[in-house]
Amino acid sequence: MSVFRDKESLTPKYIPEKLPHRDKEINLLYDLYRDFSYSRVIQLEGQAGTGKTSTAHLVGMRLNDHANKENVYFKYVYVNLKLEAPTRFVLYKSIVSKVDRGIVSRSVSAEELLNILIRYLVKRNLKILLAVDEIDYYVKSLRGGGIVYDLTRLNEIYGEKPTNIIGVIFISRDKSWKNVLNSAEKSSLGNIVIEFNPYNAEEVYDIVNFRVEKAFKRGAVSNSVIEYVSDLTVNYANSDIRYALDLLYYAGIIAENEGSNRVTVEHIRTASGNVFRSITTEDLMSLTRDEIYILLATAIALKSKRNAYVSIEDIYDEYASLCEQYQTRLKNRRKFIEVLESLSNKGMIDIRSITKISINVPVEKLEKFLDALINRLDNALHNK
Ligand SMILES: Nc1ncnc2c1ncn2[C@@H]1O[C@H](COP(=O)(O)OP(=O)(O)OP(=O)(O)O)[C@@H](O)[C@H]1O
Ligand SMILES: [Mg+2]
Repeated sequence: MSVFRDKESLTPKYIPEKLPHRDKEINLLYDLYRDFSYSRVIQLEGQAGTGKTSTAHLVGMRLNDHANKENVYFKYVYVNLKLEAPTRFVLYKSIVSKVDRGIVSRSVSAEELLNILIRYLVKRNLKILLAVDEIDYYVKSLRGGGIVYDLTRLNEIYGEKPTNIIGVIFISRDKSWKNVLNSAEKSSLGNIVIEFNPYNAEEVYDIVNFRVEKAFKRGAVSNSVIEYVSDLTVNYANSDIRYALDLLYYAGIIAENEGSNRVTVEHIRTASGNVFRSITTEDLMSLTRDEIYILLATAIALKSKRNAYVSIEDIYDEYASLCEQYQTRLKNRRKFIEVLESLSNKGMIDIRSITKISINVPVEKLEKFLDALINRLDNALHNK
């Protein structure tokens, strides 16, 4: 027996066909690019789970349809800097290969990659809209704003001709990333900002209701359950919709495992003990294998020390035994520290000092959380 109609629709990969309460932002963005002619730089700003990435994807999909009807050769190209771009070179390479896997066959410099891309687009009369997500993360991890300069000045770098890049959308949570840009970068970035304000309680309710209709069988989730999920999302997760979706997903699985044909408030309560905003399913899915091992080692170390903090040594010891257990090669210290830092940059762990490392979850909930996390990470490893 299942409570779900379409469980996958609650996972981060899924893009809903509409986003209630984001029509204004969607239409604005769509109207800016619908004529496929101007090169405009736009920023989307707002806190976690306010629908920025989904809005960009949805507009990209609508522009694809519109282009098909209008016989315009067009592609929406999305890159996530947190997940795909350790360096400028890797970023440009990733953009180029999303346009066409076969473009670059020899090794070239980062600048040359952009040159090749522009020439390719002009030759084929292909237009692209580029969405660059998590720019704040990239700039703040000290990699600077060089890419902002490059991507906003493509027109100038390549002469006066149009470049076929009809626009660049920079997406960020935290507007302070712009403080580190120099004045040339700031000026080419411009100041067209679409702000994504947090959803209010009624909006969260509508959105949760909409997502429940798609994901669950009729009658499996009552109004009071939807209200409860919405309340928790507003009060404990600053209206981050990702939290609501995670909660529904886990509660649905718990209900299913019990053989129940309904999701109850009690199922939501149990799920809320396992779902935390600091570490979402989306985050876990994006981790590399090394990151999973080392986050798991941190969780095990914290659990076995029964302490709010552990040292780098404690984690390394646990990591070494995990590698033995999973018969995988132990990375050297330098690499280990790099991975630890990357987990810290992603907000998963908190490094106060080399002897004070923790996971970003309230201390009183740590033990329960660690058990669930160890389970989830264990599963993730088996599935990689
Ligand atoms: N208005 C909405 N209607 C339906 N689903 C929504 C809405 N807003 C957000 N969501 C869902 O919530 C999840 C988070 O949204 P999204 O990834 O777009 O947020 P974001 O603003 O990019 O957050 P972050 O800054 O953390 O990346 C997605 O699964 C998305 O489908
Ligand atoms: Mg996002």
